[in-house]
Amino acid sequence: MCGIFGYIGHKTNAPTIVLEGLKRLEYRGYDSWGVAVVPEGDAENILVKKKAGKIGAATVTSMPKGTLAFGHTRWATHGGVTDVNAHPHLDCTKTIAVIHNGIVENYEALKEMLTKEGHHFVSQTDTEIIAHLVEENLKAMKPAIRDAQPAFSKAVQKAFNALDGLNAIILINTTSHEMVAARNGSPLVVGFGDGENFLASDPAALLPHTKQVHYLEDDEMVIVRPDAIHIFNARTGERVRPRKQLLTWTEKDAEKGQYPYFMLKEIYEQPGLMSEIASESTEQAKELAKQFATAYRVYVVGAGTSGHAARAASYLFSDISAHLINWGIASEFDHRLNVIPEKSLVVALSQSGETMDLMEVVKKAKAKGIGVVSIVNVVGSSLWRMADFRMPIGAGPEKGVASTKAFTSKIAHLILIAYAMKGNISDGQKLLIRAAKSAKEAVSESNVKRIKALAAKMKSVEHMFVVGKGISYPAAQECALKIKEISYIHAEGVAAGELKHGPLALVTKGTPCIVIAPNDETYRDVLGSAMEMKARGGHIIGFSYKNDEVFDDYIPVADAGEATIIPNVIVAQLLAYYLTLERGFDPDMPRNLAKSVTVK
Ligand code: G6P
Repeated sequence: MCGIFGYIGHKTNAPTIVLEGLKRLEYRGYDSWGVAVVPEGDAENILVKKKAGKIGAATVTSMPKGTLAFGHTRWATHGGVTDVNAHPHLDCTKTIAVIHNGIVENYEALKEMLTKEGHHFVSQTDTEIIAHLVEENLKAMKPAIRDAQPAFSKAVQKAFNALDGLNAIILINTTSHEMVAARNGSPLVVGFGDGENFLASDPAALLPHTKQVHYLEDDEMVIVRPDAIHIFNARTGERVRPRKQLLTWTEKDAEKGQYPYFMLKEIYEQPGLMSEIASESTEQAKELAKQFATAYRVYVVGAGTSGHAARAASYLFSDISAHLINWGIASEFDHRLNVIPEKSLVVALSQSGETMDLMEVVKKAKAKGIGVVSIVNVVGSSLWRMADFRMPIGAGPEKGVASTKAFTSKIAHLILIAYAMKGNISDGQKLLIRAAKSAKEAVSESNVKRIKALAAKMKSVEHMFVVGKGISYPAAQECALKIKEISYIHAEGVAAGELKHGPLALVTKGTPCIVIAPNDETYRDVLGSAMEMKARGGHIIGFSYKNDEVFDDYIPVADAGEATIIPNVIVAQLLAYYLTLERGFDPDMPRNLAKSVTVK
């Protein structure tokens, strides 16, 4: 969601460094942005430039020079999308600035208290109260203490401890040359440079500057100066030794390269990733298979696309290793945690490793003594650190808001784990090589040509159905999700057997119905459903290993056995992508959506 980037060092173009950092965070989704700088020299106030809308071609060259600046991309929660509500926010004296991710749950009470003390608010945000709270805390200090070096960080600490909810905050001021940050829930990463240091909400933004990072844990606070970083516990004041980690991604991994959009780049990376996972992930898969096999029950949980991967997992394990595993959507899983038996295992699936609903599930599971496995793409992320056992998805940075390669890579890992449980991982590897081949055909020039033509034909439809059975049911749901997320066409993923229980009432002349019909035991049934829809006038689009007369349009998907969900979903991603271009939208940044949902 919101992006944070902060710089302190020896370079005097801090605002530009920060704006570049914000641009690298644009993919997370935002609706306004802003930068604040402590001007060089004797300037009395912090200067801010902030705007509703996208950064686009905007610059901050008109801002004063300075070696300390920070900025924010906002995804509105409290207060509409306006210039005034964009971060950073200032206190009454304009000498303290704050940027913030999260929601201050007790902001009304704090605002009332601060208003009584005479503070004047200019925005409708919960964030602004933090700057005023720090101002108030400083005011309450005796002059001798207020003038000493730690006064500002002490005032921030006190303010942070007064906030309810899950928040990450950074504050700067005109007197002490430092950034002071704290986190509870929302992610924050400290980047270690040479005579310069950084703060960001996402490690990918730090790649051009440094690969040495420390992920702040909940309740940790940090004082960042050009030549020093002090970390401590915000509640107890105890010092914390930096846990430096090395980022493994390269700057190039996080760039678009020759592709017009990140999403297309990420779609094309999938065949290669399937082969890589087949050859490199067997040891970890065997290790996790042991955990799965010894658990009393296994619950695979995720949100959005990761939730679809969790549902697919339940089919994969029953089909491949004859294990019945449970699955759930993170936001709906809370109440089930109370009845999960001891010695069970919760498996958290997540690209970002920061999805708040899933973090809540993991926290509660841990509190109950239930083991947690995290299968996440961002190594070092919150879910990564919270787990008892971990597996990296290894898909590289995924920047398109609509998740693509992280989905198929999760499926590939789950297939390997299922085969490892069966005691036959080499068959799992062979299957993934087959899936890689089929994925390559899915993105081949001739296939893309067909998909583009189909997208051109379908660009004006308002609704469609995507139908599948067995593991093709979560594939259908994922296909529908991709289409609605980025092309804004309403699409519904339906289990073939459920058609007659409602959706069929909406199939009339010309209704587009995508039918996922792989070479498995579901083929006949799904074709039967296709015929029923056709009889009502439905326009049938088959994703299948062979053409059939019931299909009005047909996209070939080469059979990859139990892994055919991989090429099926890749074809769906491409269709969603080209539908989006046909309709004139940006596939990387869909309206109202964020890459990483760090609030509940
Ligand atoms: C957001 C993203 C989706 C993603 C979901 C779960 O909604 O836009 O693409 O599937 O979060 O994210 P996670 O990082 O936990 O997989």
